[in-house]
Amino acid sequence: MKAYRILHGAKIDGLQLKDIVEAPLDPYEVRVAVKAVSLNYRDLMVAEGAYPVKVDRPVIPCSDGAGEVMAVGSMVTRVQPGDRVAASFFPHWLEGQPDQAKIRSSLGGDTDGMLAQSITLHEDALVRIPDQLSYLEAATLPCAGVTAWNAIFESSSVQPGDTVLLLGTGGVSIMGLQMAKAAGLRVIITSSSDDKLERARALGADETINYRTVPEWHEEVQRRTDGKGVDLVLEVGGEGTILRSLASTTVEGTIAVIGGVSGFDGELNPFSLVTGAKRMVGIFVGSRAMLEQTAGFFAGAGIKPVVDRVFPFAEAKEAYRHLQSGAHFGKVVIDLTE
Ligand SMILES: NC(=O)c1ccc[n+]([C@@H]2O[C@H](COP(=O)([O-])OP(=O)(O)OC[C@H]3O[C@@H](n4cnc5c(N)ncnc54)[C@H](OP(=O)(O)O)[C@@H]3O)[C@@H](O)[C@H]2O)c1
Repeated sequence: MKAYRILHGAKIDGLQLKDIVEAPLDPYEVRVAVKAVSLNYRDLMVAEGAYPVKVDRPVIPCSDGAGEVMAVGSMVTRVQPGDRVAASFFPHWLEGQPDQAKIRSSLGGDTDGMLAQSITLHEDALVRIPDQLSYLEAATLPCAGVTAWNAIFESSSVQPGDTVLLLGTGGVSIMGLQMAKAAGLRVIITSSSDDKLERARALGADETINYRTVPEWHEEVQRRTDGKGVDLVLEVGGEGTILRSLASTTVEGTIAVIGGVSGFDGELNPFSLVTGAKRMVGIFVGSRAMLEQTAGFFAGAGIKPVVDRVFPFAEAKEAYRHLQSGAHFGKVVIDLTE
């Protein structure tokens, strides 16, 4: 089978397509024919050498994928050949709260990931995907979908009618938009592009703000919430946005700290948290149980993850470059069946 491999920091051009001979299955292992892979900002960080991984050998990149079970080891009970499955970002975090052991490895970071025609995983790492979702759609859920799920439904206490602030129109934010609207939340979303904001409105966003033309967007968030502030922020911006996110949040509101598309440095004045009794909570994707809940939520609510553009397997580097350009809205996906 063919698989891409990349050495941490080798840049996008360092992605190499290789022929790989697969080992026989262990008793609890499952071999999956990968049908679709979605890209995350983290895959760019791995290529750039900006992701904290502990391996110095090339790995198969990408955490997110979906496919069909081809073969199972002698002791496998969780899935069977023909099942449609997706893999969980952390193969050892099955449920409950995370601990060191549960997050010790992640697909496409420290261990081989999904950008391959076939992958072999322990049966515990897999979940069945609902019939309502195609492989291309299901492949978007393990990182971006679960992260947004965790931030909205596990790590905050928002209720229908509460307001959530989303930053930019990338994978996590658009997943957050779709789930928040399906859960009856009011959504304020920012973007650098009026066209993207128009698309966000079509998906149900209640308020939109262009953070390029309105650099003090936190003041606008306060204005659009009658001076109250939002109940939850999915903070994906990092050093360039986190202080404004704090200033956008209501008393006892939650800042779900997720990412740093503008960088991971910066300083925080403790008073900005203390004086509003605000909560900051770090989000690290989520468990297999959260992946099951996320997939079930999309299927049950009849919503489809927003796929921006699909690239064939042979054009994986172009897919990475498209993500890197920031031109996308929602998820960038690679189709392994093309
Ligand atoms: N902690 C976790 O578990 C976890 C999980 C997933 C992702 N993340 C992190 O979350 C971040 C987003 O990931 P992603 O995969 O959703 O990325 P993505 O799809 O590449 O989206 C990036 C988007 O961020 C927006 N953006 C860029 N600069 C911005 C700024 N200064 N202010 C506001 N928005 C800005 C842009 O939206 P517009 O084009 O609309 O301006 C851009 O398209 C990354 O830092 C990633 O590492 C963390």
